[in-house]
Amino acid sequence: MNVAFYERIWMWAATAIIAIFLGAIFVTAAAQAVEPPSHIETVDPATILSHPEFGKPAITTRPDGSVIVPVVAGMFSFAPDPIEVPANVRVTFRLTSADIIHGFQVVGTNANAMAIPGYVSQFTVTFPKPGEYAIACNEYCGLLHHNMVGKLVVK
Ligand code: CUA
Repeated sequence: MNVAFYERIWMWAATAIIAIFLGAIFVTAAAQAVEPPSHIETVDPATILSHPEFGKPAITTRPDGSVIVPVVAGMFSFAPDPIEVPANVRVTFRLTSADIIHGFQVVGTNANAMAIPGYVSQFTVTFPKPGEYAIACNEYCGLLHHNMVGKLVVK
């Protein structure tokens, strides 16, 4: 089969681009702990205020020192706020929304998930550097979306 020289170049270029994109997915998954949501857990947003975990979201410490942080996002704030966690321990965020879809991004880290009404988004991260971090809502959620900012304090 005779494939023209330029056609050959484009075939290899397209193959290389696909390989680079797939490689980027594997590298970020392996090196930066980027992962898809791990489980599907539902919660009723209409009764969230009386929910045992999310009604008054409180940070709890497990016997091994790791920390669980339930978070409720709602127009236009996060609860609890500020969130205080220790440095260098595993922090599991359990995130849901009381109204519509919000974002939950700890700026400058790889902690980033969507808060979806009816569902619990759970992910675990470790914060090695103590300090104050802004938590931004990165899904447009209404007129005061740009004011929807929380604070994470790593001690
Ligand atoms: Cu909440 Cu944007």
